[in-house]
Amino acid sequence: MLRPAMTKLLTSACATLLLLAACAEKGDETAHKDGHDGAHKAADYAGVMELKGLKTPASFSSMTDDTERAAAIFTEMSKVLLHPRCSNCHPRYGGPTQGDNMEPHEPPMVRGAGLGPDAMGCDTCHGKENVAYASMEGSVPGAEPWLLAPESMGWAGATPAELCVQIKDENLNGGRSLEDLIEHNTVDHLVNWAWNPGEGRTPAPGEQALFGALTSAWVEAGAHCPA
Ligand code: HEC
Ligand code: HEC
Repeated sequence: MLRPAMTKLLTSACATLLLLAACAEKGDETAHKDGHDGAHKAADYAGVMELKGLKTPASFSSMTDDTERAAAIFTEMSKVLLHPRCSNCHPRYGGPTQGDNMEPHEPPMVRGAGLGPDAMGCDTCHGKENVAYASMEGSVPGAEPWLLAPESMGWAGATPAELCVQIKDENLNGGRSLEDLIEHNTVDHLVNWAWNPGEGRTPAPGEQALFGALTSAWVEAGAHCPA
C-alpha cells in the first residue's frame, strides 16, 4: 500500500515526466558529448600549470618529497571530490542534496538500495541525459544509470585528510585498488557528468582528463594523505 504522501509525490513525479517528455527536444547539448574523454588525454598537461581552476601535475613537480607532493596533489583533487557536483551524490547521511549550496533534494529522497526508495527510483525523474526545463532556467540532471553512492562512499563535508583515508580504504570504496581509482576517476560516467552537468549548474573545476591525471600522479607519488 502506498501512503497518501507517497501517492501525491508519485503523481507530481508523473507530471514532471510529462513536462520532460514535452521538452525532451530541448535537451542540453553538452549531454550528448559522450563521457570518457579522459583516457587518451592523460599525459597532455606538460608545461600547463593550471586549467579552469585546477592545478596540473606539473605544478607539483618541484616538490621533491614524495609524501608532501602526494598530500598536496590529493588536496588539489579534493577541489573536485568535495565540489557540489560530486558531493551532492556522495552524502554521508540521508539522501542526495542539490545545487551549489547542497540543499536537501526536492522532493525529499531517502536512500534506498542506491536507486532510490523502492516505490520511486531515481530514474522516475532522472533520464539518460540532462533535460533542460521548457519554461524556466535549469535542467533535470541525467546519466545512465543515475544513482546515489552507497553510504560507505559518502563524504560530503569531510576534510581532505578524512576523505583521502576513506577513499583508499578497500572496505569502504567498493574493493577498489589505487589503479581502480585512477580508472574510475578517468572514465566513470557519473564522474564525467560533473563536467557536463546541464543548464543552470556550475561544472566541477578542471576537466575529467586532468582529474584522472592528478589521481595518477597522486598514486605514483605513493598515494600519501594530507595531514
Ligand atoms: C520526483 C523526481 C525525482 C526523483 C525520484 C529523484 N530526483 Fe534527483 N532531482 C530531481 C530534479 C527535478 C532535480 C533538479 C533540481 C534543480 O536543480 O532544479 C534533481 C536534482 C538532483 C541532484 C542535484 C545535482 C546537483 O549537483 O545540483 C542530485 C545529486 C540528484 N537529483 C540525485 C538523485 C538521486 C540519487 C535520486 C534517487 C535516490 C534522485 N535524485 C531521485 C528530481 C528527482
Ligand atoms: C549521480 C550520482 C553521482 C555523482 C554525480 C558522482 N558520483 Fe561518484 N559514485 C556514485 C556511485 C553510485 C558510486 C558507486 C559506484 C560503484 O561502486 O560501482 C560512486 C563511486 C565513486 C567513487 C569510488 C570510490 C569511493 O570510495 O567512493 C569515486 C572515487 C567517486 N565516485 C568519485 C566521484 C567524483 C570525483 C565525482 C564528481 C566529479 C562523482 N563521484 C560524482 C554516484 C555519483
